[in-house]
Amino acid sequence: MLRQLSLEVLVGPAERRRALRRDIERGLSAPSKHIPPVWFYDEAGSLLFEEITRLPEYYPTRAERAILDRHAFEVVEAAAADTLVEIGSGTSEKTRLLLDAMATAGSLERIVLFDISRDVLLPAAEELGRTYGVDVHAIVGDFWHDLGAIPPQGRQLWAFLGGTIGNLRPQERRRLLERFRQQMGGAGHLLLGTDLVKESRRLLAAYDDSAGVTAAFNRNVLNVVNRELGGGFEPESFDHRAVWDPRQSWIEMRLRARKAQQVAIEEMALVVELAEGEEILTEISAKFTPDSVREELQGAGFSPAALWRDDAGDFQLTLASVPT
Ligand code: SAH
Ligand code: AVI
Repeated sequence: MLRQLSLEVLVGPAERRRALRRDIERGLSAPSKHIPPVWFYDEAGSLLFEEITRLPEYYPTRAERAILDRHAFEVVEAAAADTLVEIGSGTSEKTRLLLDAMATAGSLERIVLFDISRDVLLPAAEELGRTYGVDVHAIVGDFWHDLGAIPPQGRQLWAFLGGTIGNLRPQERRRLLERFRQQMGGAGHLLLGTDLVKESRRLLAAYDDSAGVTAAFNRNVLNVVNRELGGGFEPESFDHRAVWDPRQSWIEMRLRARKAQQVAIEEMALVVELAEGEEILTEISAKFTPDSVREELQGAGFSPAALWRDDAGDFQLTLASVPT
């Protein structure tokens, strides 16, 4: 049978713009201003994220890759899957280590990639199709609304890597994990990547690098609003800030207005007023402990089955199953 690449677009340009309008309306008219991090990832933002993953200060990608380098075969053996489903897949670069292990074990039958950003998803899907010679189903969707599009075929290993779960608040994490569990069915496994709590100095450096790439990534969200909604933000009139909140156990990324300003968003007939020093919260990035990962997985109805950490104990991969 010929291998197939199928592309399903559940969030096209019109839906994206509608959702962005809704988030900007809510987030920038709230007393404490915020923009959800999903809007970082246009083409430029996805490229900046890739650049972040190569920065000396940004250890999570390297740590997660080191774990997969060493343990992908154990993951694959324990999951006994023939279908790799990756959520928030981005470039799927580290995923290749899992796919190599599945291919070597002779079990790989299909790949499903799911991401909101078509710009990174499609090239990654084409590349994986060429490399592994199996069916690849690429879904451009929002994991809050579109998980139902994932075909219920095969024995599935779902991968949610990079620590993206940490970009959600505790209630949201629980809700998303529960949806994963409901959608993946009884025989499924979840491989969850989580960044771990560590010295605040290293955490802050990872989110405020010396080359200014994370600052550019953060400001890029303003370019997205300008382009999509006719916004008048001047990204350079905002400072990038990374703040560690030990009580919540998360990093906050914020954009701080250098001067008082009024920013018109033409397509929404909205004028955003910012005082000098006022901040827009653009991302949280939660950091976990082995106990908190276990508790959150169990709270969402998963049974943690195995876990792996890198030598420095910076990052953790946890494999969890759905109790039958
Ligand atoms: N998994 C990759 C990429 C992490 S970056 C890695 O480990 O390096 C986070 C990815 O999640 C981006 O590709 C972004 O487009 C995607 N993403 C963010 N919010 C999303 C949402 N609501 N639905 C689907 N994908 C989302
Ligand atoms: C995708 N996500 C896990 C990244 C993180 O570390 O929270 C996004 C990021 N933000 C700043 N740098 C990287």
